[in-house]
Amino acid sequence: METTLQPELHQHLQDAKARIDAATAAEELRAVERDYIDKGGVVAGLLAAITTLPPEQRRDAGQGANILKGAVLKALGDRKAELEAMAIDAARSGHGFDPSLPGTSIRRGSLHPVTRVTRELEDIFSSMGYDILDGPEVEIDVYNFERLNIPGDHPARDMHDTFWCEVNGAERDSNMGLLLRTHTSCVQVRTMERLQPPFRVVVPGRVFRQETVDASHEHTFHQMEGLVVGEGLTVGHLIGTMKTFLREVFQKEIEVRLRPGYFPFVEPGFELDARCPFCATPGAGCRVCKQTGWVELCPCGMVHPAVLQMSGIDTEKYTGFAFGLGLSRLVMLRYEIDDIRHLMGGDTRFLSQF
Ligand code: PHE
Repeated sequence: METTLQPELHQHLQDAKARIDAATAAEELRAVERDYIDKGGVVAGLLAAITTLPPEQRRDAGQGANILKGAVLKALGDRKAELEAMAIDAARSGHGFDPSLPGTSIRRGSLHPVTRVTRELEDIFSSMGYDILDGPEVEIDVYNFERLNIPGDHPARDMHDTFWCEVNGAERDSNMGLLLRTHTSCVQVRTMERLQPPFRVVVPGRVFRQETVDASHEHTFHQMEGLVVGEGLTVGHLIGTMKTFLREVFQKEIEVRLRPGYFPFVEPGFELDARCPFCATPGAGCRVCKQTGWVELCPCGMVHPAVLQMSGIDTEKYTGFAFGLGLSRLVMLRYEIDDIRHLMGGDTRFLSQF
């Protein structure tokens, strides 16, 4: 039904709209609402006056009043939304601040799985009386190899595919053999030079090797070196330490075994395996241990006397043991990550799971 407003009502609507359009605050809109819509307002007055009209005019008059009411309410609602949108824009661009507006949500970050495991192991070793140290990632040949009993022509250098640094175009031999450390063992040497025995330290850190990258090899990964030097230390202390450490990590007794392993800076050197903590029945075999019942935990051994001597430690008095925990490997075991490339890949879809 087409209804045109009577001139009087039309005028009311124009007046109301002019005030609404000019309003810049909620209170002004509220005042218009009071004058037109509330009890005692314009619309109510029009409706009340209907009873004084001749019956044939009442219907149109009632309809007209209701149309006016609807039009004023709509104009009020539209302007209110407009003002709110303007306030949000102003707050976003820093002009003015409305504390009643909902805040912009902030994306929460989380710790990298390597950081998590590193901190957990640091806590465990701290509770066992270890100091936590670090060292430079760009090392010199002397610390990464030579003082670890790996001289220039030693075949063990082939085990480490080294990234050599070029300094101002200088050749490898004339820049002190600057390199990206291939293991955290170089901090063993730095520690022995700095501290007087007895001491026990762990050194978490990033290491680098020129590997062909695949699911189990990365050019950048993490290790945690352990070094203990004191009087009368034996392989028994090494085994005891690793068992204590495993008990803390897995909250249960875990059997270990030693296999011979060769590293020039330890003698004897071992590969230490742990009973797979993930098998339903210990030793039964599972996916994690590839059905062998054992997981390789870390290379380790008694510090070679030549290494102690090169760092000025009296081998008549002191012995020591060292271990090299593969942090990246432990993280993968812990969270059942089957591809090492996820760790340093920087994909936030992967990282946001932790
Ligand atoms: N640094 C050795 C490596 O990365 C591991 C190791 C550490 C071996 C400590 C023995 C003792 O290959």
